[in-house]
Amino acid sequence: MDPRTNPYAPGAGTPPPELAGRDGLIEAAAVALDRIRDGLSARSLVMYGLRGVGKTVLLNQMRLNAEANGLVTVPVEAPEGRSLPAILLPSLRSSLIRVSRSEATKAGFKKVFGILASFAKAFRVKYADIDFSIDIEPEEGIADSGDLENDLTELLRSIGEMARERGVVVSLFIDELQYVKEDQLAALITALHSANQRKLPITLFAAGLPQLLGLLGKAKSYAERLFDFQFIGALAPEFAREALVEPARRLNVEYQTEAIDQIVQATECYPYFLQAWGQYCWQVAEKTPITLEDTQQATEIAIAQLDSSFFRVRFDRLTPSERRYMRAMAELGPGPHRSGDVAEILHRPVNSIAPTRSSLIRKGMAYSPAHGDIAFTVPLFDGFMKRIMRLEN
Ligand SMILES: Nc1ncnc2c1ncn2[C@@H]1O[C@H](COP(=O)(O)OP(=O)(O)O)[C@@H](O)[C@H]1O
Ligand SMILES: [Mg+2]
Repeated sequence: MDPRTNPYAPGAGTPPPELAGRDGLIEAAAVALDRIRDGLSARSLVMYGLRGVGKTVLLNQMRLNAEANGLVTVPVEAPEGRSLPAILLPSLRSSLIRVSRSEATKAGFKKVFGILASFAKAFRVKYADIDFSIDIEPEEGIADSGDLENDLTELLRSIGEMARERGVVVSLFIDELQYVKEDQLAALITALHSANQRKLPITLFAAGLPQLLGLLGKAKSYAERLFDFQFIGALAPEFAREALVEPARRLNVEYQTEAIDQIVQATECYPYFLQAWGQYCWQVAEKTPITLEDTQQATEIAIAQLDSSFFRVRFDRLTPSERRYMRAMAELGPGPHRSGDVAEILHRPVNSIAPTRSSLIRKGMAYSPAHGDIAFTVPLFDGFMKRIMRLEN
């Protein structure tokens, strides 16, 4: 069919044509923000799940909704290897500048900008990746002790107090939070905890891979009470259908029931895969309705494409021993698996492959859902591992 009108949108953080099955989560986020605005308690939201389930899309949608309701949002992405101060400072500054523009009196802001400046000055040496300047005198003695936990707490407190005076809510939206290092994560938790105890209108919405859960708990044991953790998984089958059918219907294109069933089965209802399959179905089909034959052909193309891109780029980051480990996991199925069972497939003692297991977790390729367990962070990766390499004996 016409490639110009193909509605599907596979990508990272690309808004889908139909955001299916997430109304409950979006509503819960809106309720939390309204409560905070009204001076009531609400926990910060942390969404965790595998790659391609729609965490970034959700975070962006929640942020747009918050902005539409007049909240001050601070969007931050945590790339691998950057420090928290370096990624936080520029976003804080531009968000605060936007609020200060709509304000009659600028006095309170001057102080907050001064504190941002002193914070940046205090950490410029420790975190060499800070690239931040602000044309304002540092506010001496606040947020500049050089102790991140202390200074971030003071920084967020001053922002929270300014927000309260003006009757606004400030929300941080941090994506890929699992890449923030443990001591910096601990500082962030402490700062939010302190703001929370003072009932300041400042809050966090975050997303990350499943290991985020363990990382937050390890950084501060009370993290599990401070945050509302939400697992983001594959869609329920009825919503997977909706994600495919609705965008097509708007363009007067239908799917045969067997065709949809086949996609639901092949994608296991993972959002990224649904978009990819939808895109290829549209490409392959000549007319409406899209048939089982079309979807079977689309499945072949989709798998070949994923094998050479989405899966492949991740495979390429692995060392030979990591590949052997992942291949042994795949032999056991989609998972999660016991590390002991993986060791058995490899004919190796568990201890001797523990370093490989750890490096896979650090790279975000695998995670440990429970003590002694190991699982893939990319859905359907087991099938790919089996296609790309043979099990060595
Ligand atoms: N609820 C949904 N329904 C349909 N497609 C979705 C949904 N959520 C996300 N997607 C699609 O899935 C893909 C991955 O989304 P993304 O937010 O980048 O995932 P993650 O951040 O979890 O890796 C995107 O192409 C997006 O359009
Ligand atoms: Mg993402």
